[in-house]
Amino acid sequence: MSTDIKHETWSSRWVFILAATGSAVGLGNIWRFPYVTGENGGGAFVLVYLLCVLLVGLPVMICEVMLGKHGRASPINAMKNLAIGAKLSEKWGLVGLLGIVAGFLILSFYSVIAGWSLAYTFYFVTGTMETIGPQSAEVFFNRLTESASAMLVWHSIFLVVTCYMVGRGLKRGLEMTVKSLMPILFLMLFGLVCYSAVVGNFGDALVYLFRPNFSALTGESILIALGQAFFSLSLGMGSLMIYGAYLPKQTPIIRTSAMIGIADTLVALSAGLAIFPIVFAYGLEAGQGPGLVFVTLTVAFGAMPFGQILGTLFFVLLSIAAWTSAISLLEPIVAWMLEGGRLTRVKATLIGGAGAWLLGVFSLLSFNIWGDITIFSKNFFEISEFLSTSIMLPLGGLLIVLFSGWRLKSDTALEWLGIEAKEWKLRAKVLILLVKVVAPLGVAAVLVNSSGLDRIGLKVFSLIF
Ligand code: TRP
Repeated sequence: MSTDIKHETWSSRWVFILAATGSAVGLGNIWRFPYVTGENGGGAFVLVYLLCVLLVGLPVMICEVMLGKHGRASPINAMKNLAIGAKLSEKWGLVGLLGIVAGFLILSFYSVIAGWSLAYTFYFVTGTMETIGPQSAEVFFNRLTESASAMLVWHSIFLVVTCYMVGRGLKRGLEMTVKSLMPILFLMLFGLVCYSAVVGNFGDALVYLFRPNFSALTGESILIALGQAFFSLSLGMGSLMIYGAYLPKQTPIIRTSAMIGIADTLVALSAGLAIFPIVFAYGLEAGQGPGLVFVTLTVAFGAMPFGQILGTLFFVLLSIAAWTSAISLLEPIVAWMLEGGRLTRVKATLIGGAGAWLLGVFSLLSFNIWGDITIFSKNFFEISEFLSTSIMLPLGGLLIVLFSGWRLKSDTALEWLGIEAKEWKLRAKVLILLVKVVAPLGVAAVLVNSSGLDRIGLKVFSLIF
């Protein structure tokens, strides 16, 4: 096994925080969170989501970063090395393999959606979006998704740029990108929330997001909330593991993870507060699905002074947020290929990018010419999204906490986390409880009992017999 490859390290702990936040904050917060919240009825879903972040997401994040920091390799080899070090089966490397598969799937449809964001940037720059109204915004969005060729162009551009950044390596590619651009994204989002508060129906949005209506909640929506937490926090497939592998030695993992988790959650909630006031003010459909953000924000920008400039800026920034996340989806795959010892970084990046591109083409076709081809009434895009987000990520996360909580010695794990046995007694106890019991039981219960899985299990069963 050739894991003796030396990876680069981040310039500082702060760069890691920015990069990990850059990984976490992306389409998941601004595009996906509002639309799955809309599809699952609002408040109760948000509450379940927050619980998932706190009780499951954070413990998984802490473990994942810790395993990366001490495994110091791509997820497959990090898990293998750590398992061998602890005299366990090498098969733990399969957790990393699951992550690689999930990474390909996610990157493929991620790039398609990010392509929409690029397309919208272009339309705003060229003035196509001036004075667009609620109806025409929907028509406009549908026209984009019905055009396979337009989507193909934007999807390809997005991946080419992603590959360029990853191909340049850690310091020259990734660090440069996140350092300058993340702060601007936060400012823009804040500005948008203020705008929505003034112009939109802010009261209804607050009620919708924060007053739980449990009758809207189904078994499947709980699974979706858990999947969304994993997706939004970049957990379960090795993004944060590989970022952890590039950490300098002296980094407090727990505090750092908490900062990333809080930032990510605030951005998701802000996105909801930017979007739903406009949905309600203009009588748009909250549960309309993946087009939600593109339609609503276009309406808002069409109606506001300087909307064209602000719209351009917003979609530029959304694209950037997507890029800083996409990089972290491709990086574990590339790092793993590099460790094979045969490929240069550029070649590994091109191979990974090409694979994701091809899968992405299937996804984008499912919005138009392959729209009718479905399995279990989900098209290719929906299957990729569901399989990776709702199944593979939680499963990966489950294995990560099981490994950290039950297979590693507690003393070792606590030492790796920088917790001294005597100090921090309470903190250590809470963490151990979360990692050993709450998080695994939570994920396992949701995975097994979710109506989605039950139904799929039944269908597979009835197909076979
Ligand atoms: N978290 C990112 C977002 O919210 C997407 C992402 C990056 C991701 N890396 C990941 C999702 C790893 C799951 C796993 O847009």
